[in-house]
Amino acid sequence: MSAEKISVLLLLAVIGSHAAPNASECDGLAKRLPTKDLNKIFRNWVLVWGVSDHEAVEAFLPNVSSSHVEFKLLPDNKTFSYIERTIFHHNLSSCTTSFINVTVPSNNETELQTLHAVNIRLEEDGQPVEYNDTGAVDFYESCSDCLLLVYKSSRFRFVLSYKEEGSHRDVEQHKAAHDDHRKFAECLGFPKKKPYVYDGVADFCHKKSAPEANPDNQS
Ligand SMILES: *[C@@H]1O[C@H](CO)[C@@H](O)[C@H](O)[C@H]1NC(C)=O
Ligand SMILES: *[C@@H]1O[C@H](CO)[C@@H](O)[C@H](O)[C@H]1NC(C)=O
Ligand SMILES: *[C@@H]1O[C@H](CO)[C@@H](O)[C@H](O)[C@H]1NC(C)=O
Ligand SMILES: *[C@@H]1O[C@H](CO)[C@@H](O)[C@H](O)[C@H]1NC(C)=O
Ligand SMILES: *[C@@H]1O[C@H](CO)[C@@H](O)[C@H](O)[C@H]1NC(C)=O
Ligand SMILES: *[C@@H]1O[C@H](CO)[C@@H](O)[C@H](O)[C@H]1NC(C)=O
Ligand SMILES: *[C@@H]1O[C@H](CO)[C@@H](O)[C@H](O)[C@H]1NC(C)=O
Repeated sequence: MSAEKISVLLLLAVIGSHAAPNASECDGLAKRLPTKDLNKIFRNWVLVWGVSDHEAVEAFLPNVSSSHVEFKLLPDNKTFSYIERTIFHHNLSSCTTSFINVTVPSNNETELQTLHAVNIRLEEDGQPVEYNDTGAVDFYESCSDCLLLVYKSSRFRFVLSYKEEGSHRDVEQHKAAHDDHRKFAECLGFPKKKPYVYDGVADFCHKKSAPEANPDNQS
């Protein structure tokens, strides 16, 4: 077989696997999280796949080496904190942390409505940075140790897929979901773009990716 034929076959294979999802597939993929399941988000998460719908944002995605998120219900039960720590080029001095407060919905309708940031505070390398954009987040149903959300600012959106901290290092397992993530983003009208994919090893701003070796096991 000629090289030309092989490359055409490869091209067809690529196009074939990138068929646009139809409406019924989208209904199955893009289900909002039920409000009664909000408790599920109050854990630590590691971004494993992400894509944006904005050129300027898309340009910095490849520079991200890790992004860690913590959702925590505050003692008043009325607010939860949303803390995101992102590191670029494996450079600890580039750590960017955003602190967001979100109001817990007071009703428990069947689907969780869009939640809006009450306040956003940004720090780079521990120093406060001026930030005045709005933030809103939609949570979607995903597997039991997964978190799937759409973050919306006034100018851009992200589809962000997380794994619970602890199961974030198995990149082979994550790969199985990439096709669904890509379809999910298409269902929401995102243009086809190269996604961010976690390498399974990059450390976070505030902790290592791999748990510390147990000192008792060292000889
Ligand atoms: C949508 O696509 C799925 C998977 O390719 C297929 O099984 C289904 O029949 C399609 N539905 C419609 C309404 O075209
Ligand atoms: C990403 O990093 C490259 C260097 O590796 C740099 O040239 C580029 O400007 C960075 N992109 C953004 C949007 O910061
Ligand atoms: C918050 O919820 C927890 C668990 O349901 C409960 O024990 C606690 O008293 C609540 N706190 C407030 C301030 O309502
Ligand atoms: C690390 O990031 C900081 C802050 O962005 C920057 O000033 C510094 O030059 C970077 N260091 C390296 C080695 O790239
Ligand atoms: C939903 O809200 C109603 C009224 O506040 C409450 O009685 C009910 O227990 C709630 N259901 C769940 C599943 O939280
Ligand atoms: C979020 O709320 C807590 C408790 O009220 C407060 O201490 C914290 O400063 C708030 N964070 C932001 C970013 O406003
Ligand atoms: C946010 O800051 C930008 C640039 O500093 C400014 O153009 C914009 O008007 C500000 N928006 C709000 C809502 O304050």
